Amino acid sequence: MKLELSLNIGGLHLSNPVLPASGTFGYGIEYEEMVPLNQLSAIITKGLTLKPREGNKPSRIVETASGVLNSVGLENIGIEGFIKEKLPKVRKHNIPIIVNIGGETIAEYEELANILDTEDVEALEVNISCPNVQEGGASFGKDPKIAGLVLEKVRKRFSRTIIAKIPPADNICQIALICQKEGADSISLINTIKALAIDIETQRPILGGIFGGLSGPAIKPVALKMVWEVSSLLDIPVIGIGGIFSGSDAIEFILAGSCAVQVGTANLVDPFSCIKITEGIREYMAKKNIGDIKELIGKAKEAMK
Ligand SMILES: Cc1cc2nc3c(=O)[nH]c(=O)nc-3n(C[C@H](O)[C@H](O)[C@H](O)COP(=O)(O)O)c2cc1C
Repeated sequence: MKLELSLNIGGLHLSNPVLPASGTFGYGIEYEEMVPLNQLSAIITKGLTLKPREGNKPSRIVETASGVLNSVGLENIGIEGFIKEKLPKVRKHNIPIIVNIGGETIAEYEELANILDTEDVEALEVNISCPNVQEGGASFGKDPKIAGLVLEKVRKRFSRTIIAKIPPADNICQIALICQKEGADSISLINTIKALAIDIETQRPILGGIFGGLSGPAIKPVALKMVWEVSSLLDIPVIGIGGIFSGSDAIEFILAGSCAVQVGTANLVDPFSCIKITEGIREYMAKKNIGDIKELIGKAKEAMK
């Protein structure tokens, strides 16, 4: 039986619905000697900013029950460094490149989109969970007006597929709707959940940045609920993220309304995760006699009507 796993997100064609989540797979090329990158449907780069960033002070990552807490602080080589040193090497693998961008101001997002529009990249993923320095460090993604403004400016500058990556805010549906209105081709959710870990020996927070972002299996049920709600409201495809470690996890997200999924923390445990999860999806489709992955999107919701 022929199994159809491909899909389109805006003008972006993906050979399968499993993508490595930003920040958990470097720029892709770090894994080229180990993982057959051409089996991935795309690379999503770690978050890039206009200028290089050193990131937060250590410790930056700590394991928690069923997940990890990180405060990497968007360490990256900056957009020019990426274009010169990394992009030509990733390009050789002949798979779509999605550049994840972050900024401290709306103007920074706009400039990144402008620079990348003339580069050989297929799509942008706009991470609006970053702190907005002009608004006292509150996340762009928590205020619908500001989130909308970021998308509006990026849309004007970048002509190809734009994915808006949104944080797990209480008003996530409102944020997603405004991103769609301002021209996003897709919404990816969720980014990490703000959390804390304390070392009782030193009696201090473990992470240098005090708070970190929680990811991994601990956040999966939260992410699933948000995907269900957001995908019920939108006309554009939703990409589900949060604690996906297996084909079954990915299927749950697709049944909740995701068209595609991203795999984050699982890559830190096993860099072959995306390939294994894609295989798990295939096995499920074959077992259930499903010819096209699109038949499964949102099916759990249909069952409740
Ligand atoms: C170490 C680490 C670094 C991350 N860096 C970024 C980043 O640069 N940009 C971004 O949008 N998300 C970043 N994320 C969030 C992930 O892309 C993803 O949204 C989150 O980890 C939830 O998925 P998971 O539970 O599968 O890990 C990072 C996550 C981790 C664990």
